[in-house]
Amino acid sequence: MRSTLTIGLALAFLSSLASALDQDRTVDVFTWPLSASSSKTIAQITYNSTFATINSYNAPSFSASDDIVRVGFYHSSGAWSGIATSALNFAPGKDKKLVLHVNGGGELYHIGFRASEGLGTSSATSNTKDGMSVEVVKVKSGPTPHLNRPVVLSPDGSAPEKEPEKSFFQKYWWAIAGVLLLQVVMSMGKGE
Ligand SMILES: *[C@@H]1O[C@H](CO)[C@@H](O)[C@H](O)[C@H]1NC(C)=O
Repeated sequence: MRSTLTIGLALAFLSSLASALDQDRTVDVFTWPLSASSSKTIAQITYNSTFATINSYNAPSFSASDDIVRVGFYHSSGAWSGIATSALNFAPGKDKKLVLHVNGGGELYHIGFRASEGLGTSSATSNTKDGMSVEVVKVKSGPTPHLNRPVVLSPDGSAPEKEPEKSFFQKYWWAIAGVLLLQVVMSMGKGE
């Protein structure tokens, strides 16, 4: 019971912390052709957990030998996250979209990229620049655990065994006995 309360308080604390930390952040997005030795910045994006704005976008130019291009960003730890796509997807006529996957704390953890044939209809809004747009996708929280039913472990640390299922006869012997008794009583009544 006490541990349930502690977990509840910890979750409440963490979620209030998370919403307090939900501020605008900035990320640089890079392209990195497989044949190139280093990445190049193509866009700077400001985002929070619901919305992103493209501050700047410089369409990349690739050499003819660049078929596959990585698109990604660097985490604050310095680690690279990204995807790979065809260099042709950056052609001027295409509608390009960066998808920022953010976690519950509003922090970027993965990036996606989509391109489609340009329809010339995308209007110039704050999250679209020169055919490049950006969208924020927040990770969905999983099913919530049942915190009010702690599992009691036995002293050796193993989970308790479930009670074995009762057989049909064990469950319903009283109904069967009732039917039999009724038949006996009725046949006795007829005999009189
Ligand atoms: C995210 O930024 C947009 C645009 O600046 C703003 O309208 C929205 O309220 C912000 N969301 C949060 C959760 O702060």
